[in-house]
Amino acid sequence: MKRIAVLTSGGDAPGMNAAIRAVVRTAIGQGWEVLGVRRGYAGLAYGEMVPLGARDVGGILQLGGTILGSARCPEFRTELGRQRALRALRSQGAEALVVIGGNGSQTGAYELSRLGFPVVGVASTIDNDLVGSEITIGVDTALNVALESIDRLKTTASSHGRAFLVEVMGRNCGYLALMVGIAGGAEAVVIPEVDTDPEMLAQELHDAYERGKSHSLVVVAEGATYNAARLAEYFHENEKRLGFELRVTILGHVQRGGAPGAFDRLLATRLGAAAVEILAREEHGVLVGWHRGEVVTTPLADVVGKENPLDPRLLELARVLAQ
Ligand code: F6P
Repeated sequence: MKRIAVLTSGGDAPGMNAAIRAVVRTAIGQGWEVLGVRRGYAGLAYGEMVPLGARDVGGILQLGGTILGSARCPEFRTELGRQRALRALRSQGAEALVVIGGNGSQTGAYELSRLGFPVVGVASTIDNDLVGSEITIGVDTALNVALESIDRLKTTASSHGRAFLVEVMGRNCGYLALMVGIAGGAEAVVIPEVDTDPEMLAQELHDAYERGKSHSLVVVAEGATYNAARLAEYFHENEKRLGFELRVTILGHVQRGGAPGAFDRLLATRLGAAAVEILAREEHGVLVGWHRGEVVTTPLADVVGKENPLDPRLLELARVLAQ
């Protein structure tokens, strides 16, 4: 192999730059050239590629976001878009592609590999919803960002005896909310995987005050049926009866921004380097992920369209510790 391309796609995640750097420098170590694709699959379809040398990826390890840019690209879901991307790759002499991204991005990677092009995926999304990796690039940093906000909110919540709803990202997956809830000491966690009755939740918060708590904190996943907006509406309508005030904070994209922590830099570096080593062994059509302290690969066919189930023991832990 002489030349490979690398792209970042979907929602960015802290650590993507570290992964790009690892891909580029490991490939150069193999004696290959690397093309960086701008704007994910959107740029790929239009042949937006630039050569990346070792110096081009210097000083990016500690930067959030992605120097290549990212995009959501509906056109890539069509056969026409994928054929266009293949033509662009081949016309620029790329013999393989590394796709750094989450669920949607790895679906795109699978489609390209089904068309016969060698692709390796690198598990990267703050949502942690990818089958094939127990933790993905960006999750640890996103958790820490959310926790910092929660720690701050708790002090002001206590001063006023208020309840706070904090909505975190995660698309349809409750992982971020559950882990933030446990690590942040939340009174309750609302996630898509578990049905929530707002009246029961209100009762739980009321009981927490009765047990002598000075505040209540509920971590809500954006994908829950009762997300922060719906819960807030319900609580405000019933404020007098419930007897406590409620405030809402939506963390949103704040969780995706900023510098990656040590864990994400190391994870991204190991997964990015492994992606190139896999191509060097002439393997492809797989996702590179992390399991029990090791790099693992999973066929892309077994990754797409699947969901990572939440560990029920963690749900129970969150409930018990909220006493
Ligand atoms: O997949 C990552 C993610 O941040 C999700 O948690 C969230 O639902 C979505 O992306 C937001 O997408 P966008 O940045 O396109 O608004």
